[in-house]
Amino acid sequence: MLFRQLFDKTSCTYTYIIASAKGREALIIDPVLENVERYILLLKELDLKLVKVIDTHIHADHISGIAELRDRTNCVTIMGDKTPTDVVSMQVSDQELIKIDGLEFRSLFTPGHTSESFSFLMSDRVFTGDTLLIRGTGRTDFQNGNPRDSYNSIFNKLLKLPDETLIYPAHDYKGDTVSTILEERKFNPRLQVKSVSEYIQIMNNLNLPDPKLMDVAVPRNLKLGIDFDKQKVNCGIDPSKFNNFLFEQDVILIDLREQSEIDKIGRIKNSIKVSFPKISDYLNKNKDELRNKKILFYCAIGQRSTLAVQISKSYQYNKCLHLIGGLKNWEQVGYKLVK
Ligand SMILES: [Fe+2]
Repeated sequence: MLFRQLFDKTSCTYTYIIASAKGREALIIDPVLENVERYILLLKELDLKLVKVIDTHIHADHISGIAELRDRTNCVTIMGDKTPTDVVSMQVSDQELIKIDGLEFRSLFTPGHTSESFSFLMSDRVFTGDTLLIRGTGRTDFQNGNPRDSYNSIFNKLLKLPDETLIYPAHDYKGDTVSTILEERKFNPRLQVKSVSEYIQIMNNLNLPDPKLMDVAVPRNLKLGIDFDKQKVNCGIDPSKFNNFLFEQDVILIDLREQSEIDKIGRIKNSIKVSFPKISDYLNKNKDELRNKKILFYCAIGQRSTLAVQISKSYQYNKCLHLIGGLKNWEQVGYKLVK
């Protein structure tokens, strides 16, 4: 496995690049905007194809690099389903699997530091965001943080993982890079409490100053998505027009989501699945079949379908359209899905 832990000096953030091997798909967790160039160079040097990027939560101390990475690499952007961002490509629920070539990440809903924080478990290691830090825990005094939720997420979820599970947090201010569940249970001073009320007492009396960049970072990090206007410019059409096209001849309807998302809510009738990371390959390999067809793309919220139209154009497919706002919009208007 390829595993890189990168450090941002300004915000003391750790960013992780993970892939199963050279030449394969890669995933990044908690990228920092200012370092995007560095990630892209490293991906190139290690011969990796970035396909997915995760933010564990809305960061208050740095601007996320996920939107810039999406625009530069066409990767899928992912956050937990409680995220208040305008939209990311894919929102995962508790216990959902995120897959890349040869690796799986299980999402764990771990609120407390913020109300939408998730952790991600990958075989022997867990990426805890700011929920559980090395010898510390993420503050709970802003962004709908809640010390009781933090206690539950840590004691009833993270500390239930096997003792030897490695902990990789989103920050460290002392230079520590990794810990384990056993180590934190034994030596993390905030976890040496006898009750939830004792933990709440500690967390409510930290008296920390607000992060320097908070007023800039939080609003920026809430605006990571491709907005509806931009989706429209890229051959986007609204649900009723999209629905009309479904009855035309020579149409191919492509669902860009992953199997786990389809299993959750269903799909539009007569669609075929080509998950977004595979779309370039698919368009390239099926030129003869697709040449004279009208291609209709859709996904969860219209992010991946916007990018799919852009990619199609680069392969000289000019009869492509996509569903603005994805299935979220489709369902809101009252159209049905099939299982
Ligand atoms: Fe945070």
